[in-house]
Amino acid sequence: MNLINALNWRYAVREFSSETIAPQQLQQLLDATRLSASSYGLQPYHLLVIQSPVIKEQLIEFSLGQDKVSNCSQLIVFAAHTNIGDATVNRYIKQFSQTRGVEVSQLANMQAHYKAALAVMDKNQRQQWAHQQAYIALGNFLTCAALMQIDTCPITGIEFDGYDKVLGLREKNLTTTAVCPIGIRHPQDASAHEKKVRFDAHDMVSLL
Ligand SMILES: Cc1cc2nc3c(=O)[nH]c(=O)nc-3n(C[C@H](O)[C@H](O)[C@H](O)COP(=O)(O)O)c2cc1C
Repeated sequence: MNLINALNWRYAVREFSSETIAPQQLQQLLDATRLSASSYGLQPYHLLVIQSPVIKEQLIEFSLGQDKVSNCSQLIVFAAHTNIGDATVNRYIKQFSQTRGVEVSQLANMQAHYKAALAVMDKNQRQQWAHQQAYIALGNFLTCAALMQIDTCPITGIEFDGYDKVLGLREKNLTTTAVCPIGIRHPQDASAHEKKVRFDAHDMVSLL
């Protein structure tokens, strides 16, 4: 399926069927999501794949009546790091050093520059910044899923604290950004056939 057809095929699914997404397909989608761009490359977020029916069931209470968080193949939780700071940069520098075979000492300038960039933000700004990076991953995830003909519904209509509690995220220095059930659309989901409501190109794009 070409890109535009895939994006027209995608919609925010109201009701999923009982079909499941195979582990290899899910793995590919998660790998594609890991390749997302992020500010300074720091990737300050984590993805949780909720497969357990018990945990999914516990999350319904905090999903404002949206039981598709449970009635789906897997529920993906995009969670931002809460402890953004020097450790965020050190973790990345270590990975960079291992991946590219460069001594950490040779990366000192980069390390200092990135730390300084985070240090000018206050705690709230750093948290928002981390959420923004998770959102980029979510966008990429939605597009890649569409190209793979995996159905999705991004969701922020949830009680974030409830999700954090059920999943024990705060103890892991994480907090929920957004969630996304995946699966296969129910054949009777009428939303699948609704026309997309999008502003025209001339209202949204300016060529200067
Ligand atoms: C960040 C974000 C949060 C959303 N939250 C919800 C939600 O809580 N429940 C829901 O049914 N749809 C949710 N949506 C889906 C949007 O309503 C949907 O993408 C939009 O109406 C456009 O329709 P389409 O995706 O079907 O083309 C959300 C979408 C995004 C990007």
